[in-house]
Formats: sequence, structure tokens, C-alpha cells
Amino acid sequence: MVKIAIEDGLFLKSLELREAEDLLLLVDANRPYLREWLPWLDMTRSIDEMILFVESTLRQLSLNQGFQSAIWHQGQIVGIIGYHHLEWANRSTCIGYWLDARFQGRGFMTKACRTLVDYAIDEWKLNRIEIRCAEGNVKSRGIPERLGFRAEGLHREAEWLYDHYVDHVVYGMLAKDWRVAHGVENKGRTTTVHQ
Ligand SMILES: CC(C)(COP(=O)(O)OP(=O)(O)OC[C@H]1O[C@@H](n2cnc3c(N)ncnc32)[C@H](O)[C@@H]1OP(=O)(O)O)[C@@H](O)C(=O)NCCC(=O)NCCS
Repeated sequence: MVKIAIEDGLFLKSLELREAEDLLLLVDANRPYLREWLPWLDMTRSIDEMILFVESTLRQLSLNQGFQSAIWHQGQIVGIIGYHHLEWANRSTCIGYWLDARFQGRGFMTKACRTLVDYAIDEWKLNRIEIRCAEGNVKSRGIPERLGFRAEGLHREAEWLYDHYVDHVVYGMLAKDWRVAHGVENKGRTTTVHQ
């Protein structure tokens, strides 16, 4: 299990099976809003499907391929953020995220994302972090833009969303640029528990 503090009352914790039911309730409460930009809503309808998802994230963590974490705010899960994959050979990763609609507009995801970039560079010594956003997803694009990522290019028709393709803007951040902009040090706020 990995737990990372962000600020008072806000932290990230890698997903656990006991959270599957709460996660499903959260997805159910946000279905139409999430479905606009995320491709997996129709594959995550039952508790069994959510358990399969959480199990896959536990495998990812145990294989040292990154992790998916819940964003906890005052004792409840308000969103998910995680590394899609981790390419050790290229020291590179890609981050994805979603937030409960009711908790938008407070900077939670920008802070969570900053924390995972710090973690990737500080703990794993990665060199490159990518965030890919659908071109029209203005709110999602705001996160890498606020954090100083560079828009590096457009992947045409990169993702199928139910009945249409969307182009992806690829944002990239390099460790050396992150250090200049944000500084990276071991902030001592991570707890890793191997189970
Ligand atoms: C993408 C998504 C996470 C963005 O949520 P968000 O609330 O806009 O992002 P943040 O939590 O970082 O909040 C940023 C907003 O809070 C404001 N804010 C307030 N306090 C802030 C702070 N301390 N730091 C940063 N921003 C702050 C910002 O100005 C911004 O508002 P604005 O867009 O009106 O300028 C959310 O819309 C979502 O989950 N969408 C559906 C799923 C999705 O699209 N996922 C991404 C797929 S690539």
C-alpha cells in the first residue's frame, strides 16, 4: 500500500479491495459526467467488475508498474489518479485521473497530480511524465497546463469514446524542467507498506 500526504485533510492512497463498493457508488453518482471523456464506464457497472478493476491495480502495484490511488478528502474518496503504465527502460510514465463532479474547482486534482509527478521523479527517478487529454477536454487540459507541462503534439483520433474518436493533446514534463519549476526533494510524506 502506498499513502502520500498532499496537505492537511487531503491524501492519496493506493486502492484496496475493501474500497470497491464505495468506488462503484462514486462512479454511479458520476456516470454521465465521466462518460463524456472516459472510455470504461460501460465496462464498470457491477461490483464484480469493480473488484476486477481494483485487483488489476493491485497486480500493477505488486509488479512495480505504478499504482492507482484514491484521492481522500476529509475521510471520503473524491476521485482517482494513477499511473497508466511505467516504462522502466525509458524512465517514463503517463498519468490519468477523474474527480467526483461535486469536488471540481478546488484544485484537488492539480495538487494530486503535482504530488504524483513529484513521486515519480523523486522516488522512482523517472525522466518523463506524460498526460494525454482529449483536445476538447478543457478542464483536464487545465491540469498539465497549470503545472507547466509542455503541449508537445496532437495524436489524431487517439481514443474511441463509445461512438466517436477524439484527438489527444500530449503534454510532457521532463525531470530537469520540473526541478527548475517546482524543486524536488524527499519530502518524507510517503508511507509505503508492503503486504
Ligand atoms: C478533469 C477533472 C479532474 C478536472 O477537475 P478540476 O476540478 O477542474 O481540476 P482541479 O481539481 O485541479 O481544480 C482546478 C480548478 O480549481 C481552481 N482552483 C481553486 N483552488 C485551486 C488551487 N489551490 N490550485 C489549483 N486550482 C485551484 C482552478 O482555478 C480551476 O478552476 P477553473 O477551471 O475554473 O480555472 C474533472 O473535470 C474530471 O474528473 N472530469 C471528468 C473525467 C476526465 O475528464 N478525466 C480526465 C481524462 S484525460
